[in-house]
Amino acid sequence: MDSSDFLDFLKNRSSVRTYDSVPLQDDDIEYILACAGTAPSAGNLESWDVVVVTDEEVRTALSQAALDQPHVEQAAAVFVVCANYVRAMSRYGERGILYGLEDAVIACTYMMLAAHAKRLSSCWTGAVDDEGVREVLDLPQHIRPIALLAVGRGHPPPVLTSRMDIGEHVHRDIW
Ligand SMILES: Cc1cc2nc3c(=O)[nH]c(=O)nc-3n(C[C@H](O)[C@H](O)[C@H](O)COP(=O)(O)O)c2cc1C
Repeated sequence: MDSSDFLDFLKNRSSVRTYDSVPLQDDDIEYILACAGTAPSAGNLESWDVVVVTDEEVRTALSQAALDQPHVEQAAAVFVVCANYVRAMSRYGERGILYGLEDAVIACTYMMLAAHAKRLSSCWTGAVDDEGVREVLDLPQHIRPIALLAVGRGHPPPVLTSRMDIGEHVHRDIW
């Protein structure tokens, strides 16, 4: 893939909120996890974990915890990506809270792009009741759910979302 192919690859991804009830292949799940495993992390501590949910009842419960967003229930798999504070804080103290969050966000980004590379659809889902997710999955206290990444065979919207002009984000040399 050359650099312009890479940009096209990124531009062609979109969040998908309508899914068919087709299960994911184990290979696809393993590929997504293998890609996440290559993500950089603070101190290479990999202060993130993921709960891979394919069970329909658990997806339904997660959907309820995600403020009743139907795509969480519809998608074949939900990757619940979590920050592992104990791992990060064992080396970095308070700063480990930030690093744990960052590590989890990068891992989730890799998973989202890995799904796209497999021509699967996904939707990063952050509007959730954290305590609800914690209860459904029996997460320990030092684990914070960061995002529910719904993945499956879906129907991308006909029109891609637009973005701000990149110049609106960028400051050069000084703010
Ligand atoms: C941190 C974060 C939280 C998000 N939470 C939700 C969500 O709860 N539900 C949802 O449908 N989409 C959610 N999204 C997806 C965004 O709405 C979407 O990425 C954005 O509108 C741009 O569209 P695109 O991904 O199709 O390019 C979230 C994305 C991010 C990065």
